[in-house]
Amino acid sequence: MNEIEVCPDPQHLARVAAGHIARIAAEVIAVRGRFTIGLPGGSTPRLLFTLLSNLPWVRRIDWAHVHVFWGDERCVPPDHPDSNYRLAYETLLHHVPVPTEQIHRISGELPPAEAARSYEQTLRAFFPEDASANPQPRFDLLLLGLGDDGHTASLFPGTLALTETTRWVVENYVPRLDAWRITLTAPAINAAAHVIFLVSGAAKAEALQAVLRGPFRPSAYPAQLIQPRAGQLLWLVDQAAAALL
Ligand code: 6PG
Repeated sequence: MNEIEVCPDPQHLARVAAGHIARIAAEVIAVRGRFTIGLPGGSTPRLLFTLLSNLPWVRRIDWAHVHVFWGDERCVPPDHPDSNYRLAYETLLHHVPVPTEQIHRISGELPPAEAARSYEQTLRAFFPEDASANPQPRFDLLLLGLGDDGHTASLFPGTLALTETTRWVVENYVPRLDAWRITLTAPAINAAAHVIFLVSGAAKAEALQAVLRGPFRPSAYPAQLIQPRAGQLLWLVDQAAAALL
């Protein structure tokens, strides 16, 4: 079930997203003493990260009990301008009291296959495996973006990562970018308790309409693969992105 919340503009979207994050974090920390969140890459989350690192939000999340992960990463060093870690560090993590040992970045500086293996080992050591035949990590919350081509995380149209059914993390070569990416797989994302897409801007309107209203063609629109098995899915979009819905 795709729940959709339309916000007037990007600033409002960031505020609503911050509210959901704070609410879920408080609920989970009260019960389990820790909160695991996977951050997206790209430019959309910048507004949200900046909001979370300032009053009042910086005080509304118990950062000492937060564990930070990523949904995907570019195959670049952590100080590279394209690094998803660098964006999150500069706009959020440098400004909030998350213990360093609770920041689990993807080692984009490693060779792709090694980076994927290393991150999967980190996840398997952190998330207790459930007894199912195909255990997956159950993130409390995964934030995702949507590309104008319908990709999410680094699950790009027509790429090998879309066919992965057991691995939690894969290296994924993206011909359109002529670049390698490290990404959570769709089964890993779908094991999350909460998934929130953040989609902003007119450039996303066609992709959003195709993903949410078009025929099921996940090879062309990988974001359609995201259907949490036992979790809640929310599409937080602004009016410009929702123009064709
Ligand atoms: C990445 C992201 C990717 C992103 C979308 C949207 O590493 O680029 O994980 O999935 O969320 O491409 O990017 P924008 O927010 O920049 O439009």
